[in-house]
Amino acid sequence: MSSARIDVVLSDSVGTINPNIYGHFMEHLGACIYEGCYVGEDSSIPNTRGFRNDVIEALKKIKAPVIRWPGGCYADDYHWQDGIGPKESRPRRINIHWGNVVESNHVGTHEFIDFCRIVGAKPYFAGNLGSGTVREMRDWVEYCNYPGDSTLGLERQKNGEEKPFGVEFWGVGNENWGCGGNFSPEDYGTEYRRYTSYMRNLGETKLFLIACGPAQNDLDWTRRFFTKLRKDFWRGTDIHGFAAHYYCGTAGQGTEYSVSEWYELLHSAIGIEPLIIQQRGLMDGFDPERKIGLIIDEWGTWHKPTEGHNPAFLWQQNTVRDALVAAMSLDIFNRHAEKVVMTNIAQTINVLQAMILTEGEKMVLTPTFHVYDMYSDHQGGESVRVVAATPEIETPKGNIPTVSGSASVKGNTLTLTLVNASATDAAETTVRLMGGILKEIASVTGLDFPAGDILAHNTYEEPTKVTISAQSLVTSSGESEIVLTLPAASVSKLTLTL
Ligand code: AHR
Repeated sequence: MSSARIDVVLSDSVGTINPNIYGHFMEHLGACIYEGCYVGEDSSIPNTRGFRNDVIEALKKIKAPVIRWPGGCYADDYHWQDGIGPKESRPRRINIHWGNVVESNHVGTHEFIDFCRIVGAKPYFAGNLGSGTVREMRDWVEYCNYPGDSTLGLERQKNGEEKPFGVEFWGVGNENWGCGGNFSPEDYGTEYRRYTSYMRNLGETKLFLIACGPAQNDLDWTRRFFTKLRKDFWRGTDIHGFAAHYYCGTAGQGTEYSVSEWYELLHSAIGIEPLIIQQRGLMDGFDPERKIGLIIDEWGTWHKPTEGHNPAFLWQQNTVRDALVAAMSLDIFNRHAEKVVMTNIAQTINVLQAMILTEGEKMVLTPTFHVYDMYSDHQGGESVRVVAATPEIETPKGNIPTVSGSASVKGNTLTLTLVNASATDAAETTVRLMGGILKEIASVTGLDFPAGDILAHNTYEEPTKVTISAQSLVTSSGESEIVLTLPAASVSKLTLTL
């Protein structure tokens, strides 16, 4: 057993944890939207206006705050006007990025907004800069947000929505260094400026405009994009968020890996922290008042294609290793709450690091879902500094901390989440509360799966192999100190009353 110390410095506030850090991403890709979420009103699968009730309940449970849509790469080949009006007359298009399947456009603007409202999430629309036009993106804003009787406002009303949708979050393209048009940072800077010149606050909703950030931690993209904006026309450019994409990839296979591949993937996953630190460092140079928020609007694991599934549909299983990737990443986002304003894990259902898997009427919640469930208490809390003195685990690519975590305060409740990354050893961990008195340990919960089974995952046959349960981890506690034993490969949450 190793030993670690976690200091929670209650007097050192990092910033408020924007609930949107716990955001999601749904693309017209594989079975994410159709089958996974939208089955149509006539389906025998219980649904609300076509959307699966089991999926709705799951996303409500984790308090999904925001959902990015309709892509991904799909966004820069999506024309929003294809997705309005009577369903039977909507055009059928080829989804060129994801298997050349025919897209019915049965889930369009109205349906997606309906889904968000049912779930209680805000919509985040990714606009088409790659193959669309400035007018098209500007018109989408008008269609969604204008309260008056312009032709587009009236068209929305004719299509059933009298009041504006009030869409706040707008991505101005997606991965414009790649599938979104293969732009150079300078050319994208010019396009960003041109598009956003026409994206206006047309009703009560103030737009939050999001620029395409780098692939992984590409500092060159960020430097050149902001240099272009500043050099030519910085003044007046509306940019509220800058969105990086960070996929940590895989090591081994999704459900088959060695202990060393377990560590290799966790090492790649925590590479998101240097990205945040270095990207924000660059951004601060251009934006000294720190007005622009850093967003990670796609992130997560990306395993090798799963046999028996169309490789273009990016279906993969999800194990406790994915759960630790999620937990360590969310702890990192919480620890950088003053700069990270939103993240959207890829993707919600049946694609990449999903919350939910479905097959026909069957549905299963993944270990990653359970992490989101446990961590939802952090949403809106005040992130306080966590300092870890922990042994490190060596991996061929560098070391990772054995014990890490994050803490947030709401009123007199402290939520502390902790990960023990060791695949084999428990960690005796002393938590010290600096600047506060512990009144009560209200609860201790954790990811629950058969001890030592680092490949554990949920299937339709065994849907609760990995779940959450109350845990007896605490061995002693006092006014300002708690000693607990974190099991190997664990994610735990302490809810403490101060
Ligand atoms: O999430 C799958 C794809 O990954 C998205 O469409 C794209 O933006 C990224 O490359």
